[in-house]
Amino acid sequence: MSFTTVLPSSNSKLFKNTTPMSKKHKFKPQFGRNENDRKSSGSGPSHSPAKRPMPPPQAHSTPPRKKARLSNGVASAIQEQRRELPIARGREALIREISANEVTVLIGETGSGKTTQVPQYLLEAGLAQAGMIGITQPRKVAATSLAARVSLEQGTPLGGCVGYAVRFDERAGPDTRVKYLTDGMLTRELLGDPLLSRYSVIVVDEAHERTLRTDLLLANLKRILRERNGSGKQKENPLKVVVMSATMDAEKFSRFFNDAKILYVKGRQHPVKIYHTSQSQTDYIDSAMRTFFQIHVDQPPGDVLIFLPGQEDIESLQKSLEMFSRQLPIDFPTVLIVPMFAALQASQQQDVFKPTPKGSRKCILATNIAETSITIPGVRYVIDTGKSKEKRYLAGPTGSGFDTLLTRDITKSSAMQRAGRAGREGPGFCYRLYTEDAFKQMAAAPEPEILRCSLVQAILQLMCVGQDIQELELMDSPDDDAIISALKNLFIIGAIDDKRRLTPLGRVLASFPLEPAHARAVVASKDLGCTSEILDIVSVLASSSKLFLDVSDKRSEIADVRRKLVHPSGDHLTLLNTVRGYSTVGIADASTQENGKAGRNARREWARQHFVNERTLREAANIRDQLRVSCERAGFDWKVSCGDAEEPVLLALSHGLAQNAALITPDGTYKQTAGQQIVKIHPSSTMADKKVPAIIFDELVYTNQIYARGVSSIQKSFLASLGAFNTRKA
Ligand code: CDP
Ligand code: MG
Repeated sequence: MSFTTVLPSSNSKLFKNTTPMSKKHKFKPQFGRNENDRKSSGSGPSHSPAKRPMPPPQAHSTPPRKKARLSNGVASAIQEQRRELPIARGREALIREISANEVTVLIGETGSGKTTQVPQYLLEAGLAQAGMIGITQPRKVAATSLAARVSLEQGTPLGGCVGYAVRFDERAGPDTRVKYLTDGMLTRELLGDPLLSRYSVIVVDEAHERTLRTDLLLANLKRILRERNGSGKQKENPLKVVVMSATMDAEKFSRFFNDAKILYVKGRQHPVKIYHTSQSQTDYIDSAMRTFFQIHVDQPPGDVLIFLPGQEDIESLQKSLEMFSRQLPIDFPTVLIVPMFAALQASQQQDVFKPTPKGSRKCILATNIAETSITIPGVRYVIDTGKSKEKRYLAGPTGSGFDTLLTRDITKSSAMQRAGRAGREGPGFCYRLYTEDAFKQMAAAPEPEILRCSLVQAILQLMCVGQDIQELELMDSPDDDAIISALKNLFIIGAIDDKRRLTPLGRVLASFPLEPAHARAVVASKDLGCTSEILDIVSVLASSSKLFLDVSDKRSEIADVRRKLVHPSGDHLTLLNTVRGYSTVGIADASTQENGKAGRNARREWARQHFVNERTLREAANIRDQLRVSCERAGFDWKVSCGDAEEPVLLALSHGLAQNAALITPDGTYKQTAGQQIVKIHPSSTMADKKVPAIIFDELVYTNQIYARGVSSIQKSFLASLGAFNTRKA
């Protein structure tokens, strides 16, 4: 069977024949050697002394801890791997420099061992005696999977010496000395501990990504350094800061921290041959699939890493790849598809690091998480769609605005990082599904998030620790419009008063690990007697993946089975019906309830039948448990329920989503009450074809027009009582 018969649209293949690409292909080689093939000499930090042999692992100077049971063979293989990482040669120099300096900037190529090794070196050198070593990551998956790896390397159970803390999930205890956390979690810790006094070292990792939280954290670290280490202060508990980045933008970080010392660690980068398409591609999923099979059929062994914008693209490509790889002749290597994105469960995350079995080829479908935060071994081919999802704030005409998640072209710096992933273990190949011209037109590097995101939550958190974003010493400061818009939003939900002062309500809202809008709905539910319902809804909204699955060839079947879940007032109560439908499966039947496994199976089957993502429901249940704790702390009863009454639930939600309200116009579209933006209801909404006087919605998505998603019909009178019409007062 030839390759051509395998694929659906063979006449539009990127490659017209099956000869190895090195001879004939439609991709044009871009550079003889690639732009990642950096010239650099020596290994380890650039100033490291003459190479010395790697010292034997040192005795830990931290208290004795429980060892996880590992066979000696496995344990020594892991130590061997550690010693072979490029960073290992610079170990002593790193320890020396970090010990000697208050702030150190460490630059090193992806995969050199920065994230996993630096904290362990510092631990082993005794720097975690007075306080913990905290390492921040922009993404949850990176924090949890790195903590798992490092605890394995330390030979201790996860949550022991090495732990993690991400929103709604924590594995850390009294023995924890090394803690991986998201930058958001550490900025939250500032609320209760403004000097981060539990930490003796903070490692700000992936600093080049310049997330909003990283920037806020860097500003706060600068302040904390002054307060904890400043002259005249008792230096009992000094703080050290290490800023780590995979790209060469060290100077800016160094300047920010008063010309902090910069260390470089050289990675192991082999040449990567880069190909561009000769024409621009309209359907990157289809192009990626065809390119994958072309590699699979023509090219020698080696795993393939495909960069896609988000989870939905990953799941859709996964389906197509699975379908077509089943049709390959049996003598072909098996295709092993491994997705890697934020919403994956911890247990699934580790799959990607397992060695590829002989006779198969791993195909990893990843978001930009695999660009610099996670290094996957065995990759020889990279397929780069040239797209990523980016949060961006769209300012409305009257100063109001909203965050949208847009699929956008990546930057040159991302494109180079992506290509570099192919050359870690040997020469590699990168297939860019865009033209060389498109590459040249890309922006150099992403804009810091603080300049393009909503500041609502950030400003609220800062206010709680008595900080004013306009007075904070930031690497880049947001413009006034973005600040004013966030303040308006905070005013609408009652978090600040008309003199921009934090209200007691604002403080309560900040105590919930939720977006302020969702926290507002929870607080409103207290007086309206529907906390149980609101927690069910909000915990799904706060989870990282979608609840309803959409299978394009099964739309009518889906509509049929979901009919009984659909609530006439819209998406929020439909969601509530779904959560309740799922959680009562197996409970009505006493025999299955007794048998836990049967109950679980019944629920799984229910989710499957209703095309509902069970992973989302399980994550939401976990979030709900934690929100119940937050409710107890805030002093209200999470069990209070309004039964089947819909009005209290919609009114509570409206309190939170007051900024996201719209009224119908004569032409059938809706006009936002704050900001006058015209919006349409997204086709995926249960409200899509309905015309009602007023709606609230979770978010706006921007495709060819502006759509509201997660929509409910509300009474117009709700809005008057919320003050959504009075936004200009703020
Ligand atoms: O931070 P940097 O990119 O410099 O490297 P790292 O994340 O510390 O990765 C060092 C090595 O650990 C890489 O070879 C990874 O493949 C490996 N690793 C692993 O095997 N399992 C993990 N969960 C994480 C990293
Ligand atoms: Mg790293």
